[in-house]
Amino acid sequence: MNILLLGSGGREHALAWKMRQSPLCERLFIAPGNAGTAQIGENVSLSATDFPAIKSFVLDKNISLVIVGPEEPLVKGVTDFFRNDAALSHVAIIGPAAYGAQLEGSKAFAKKFMARHNVPTAQYAEITSHTEGVEFLKTLQPPYVLKADGLAAGKGVLIINDLGEAIESLKVMLEGQFGDASRKVVIEEFLDGIEFSVFALTDGKNYVILPEAKDYKRIGEGDTGLNTGGMGAVSPVPFVNDELWQKVEERIVKPTINGLHTEGIDYVGFVFFGLIRVGHEPMVIEYNCRMGDPETEVVMPRLKNDLVDLFQKASAGRLSEIQIEKDKRTATTIVLTAGGYPNDYKKGDVITNTVREDSFGEGGADAIIFHAGTKKIDNQIVTNGGRVMAITAYGDDIPAALSVSNKYAELVQFDGKYFRRDIGLDLLKVN
Ligand code: AMP
Ligand code: GLY
Repeated sequence: MNILLLGSGGREHALAWKMRQSPLCERLFIAPGNAGTAQIGENVSLSATDFPAIKSFVLDKNISLVIVGPEEPLVKGVTDFFRNDAALSHVAIIGPAAYGAQLEGSKAFAKKFMARHNVPTAQYAEITSHTEGVEFLKTLQPPYVLKADGLAAGKGVLIINDLGEAIESLKVMLEGQFGDASRKVVIEEFLDGIEFSVFALTDGKNYVILPEAKDYKRIGEGDTGLNTGGMGAVSPVPFVNDELWQKVEERIVKPTINGLHTEGIDYVGFVFFGLIRVGHEPMVIEYNCRMGDPETEVVMPRLKNDLVDLFQKASAGRLSEIQIEKDKRTATTIVLTAGGYPNDYKKGDVITNTVREDSFGEGGADAIIFHAGTKKIDNQIVTNGGRVMAITAYGDDIPAALSVSNKYAELVQFDGKYFRRDIGLDLLKVN
């Protein structure tokens, strides 16, 4: 079958890499893609939110499966657009309709959903009036967690130690610091623990759980400095033992998927559970309606199942037939960023010494280079974003995999390259 994947990051390169391995995959198009996806499929210059253009392309190229990588087209209703158009009704689309995408698109929607289905999460209040917000803040202990209700490009969460500062920040948020996204603010109790991520693929009723992962969001080693889109990830997460996994499945994954089903929510796609272990108990920090980036760059390499088959079964309501098989090895990924990121950074620097991703395990290459912000111009690959590449390697444990990721992170060259060398090492000390 012909497949269209929407998006252009490391996540999309990893999804494309995995789908390319399937005998079910004939032509694979990525819109808009990057220099890495162009090596294994056909990039198409289409915006992931230009739905009429996507429709023409899908019909023209006889596409029967569409995978939505990022959240924005989902929250804006790309799935509804497909469902409501008779000419597209035969096309399977992976990603929830807009109503269900609010699990990510509205923090207040997600919190109310969790409350209805007894999914463990932080105590909270949904605030539109500053006076009410101040009253609620006074009932909490510091630090204070303030979240813009809507999508804010990963920047909408503030964690503040001082009550006076939290009161002031709440005012600025409600006045539109993050545009309409923060006209409503969710204030939460602070949870103290260690975070990890779990990913389910659901057909709306049944689900499968993919390998878990942990990502590293801060720019600096030792988890210091500014928040980024993600500087690296590991899978598996050593502290996620059988007991914790069972609790996650029974208390969080099952009630969430059952909740979607019993509420009649049209949801065929990924649910990304951003979790935190508090003491020995898992709680939900957030839901996302898509895979994580850079988590996908370690999850896909550990997934043994045919991903296209999983997507077909998901859209046919047949995920109950699937048993997930995982590679036992550890995978680590290190993100190479452009100098200055997550603040201003340059684009257009030439990248050298990249390794073809399809040479993994052959010809001496023992890493997979997933491209993110890259672009091909005049036969050269140049930087085209803050997160440039994610370098994934396998090993028997985190240090072994990390040393290979590090080796290739050193080899790839571009002006201003930066990366963290400590991805996953903190986990060696966590029980
Ligand atoms: P979110 O966008 O909801 O995932 O929040 C971004 C980050 O803020 C999370 O990955 C956590 O590190 C942190 N965070 C969010 N909510 C809480 C909370 N209730 N307690 C502690 N940390 C939180
Ligand atoms: N790495 C976190 C995310 O994709 O939201």
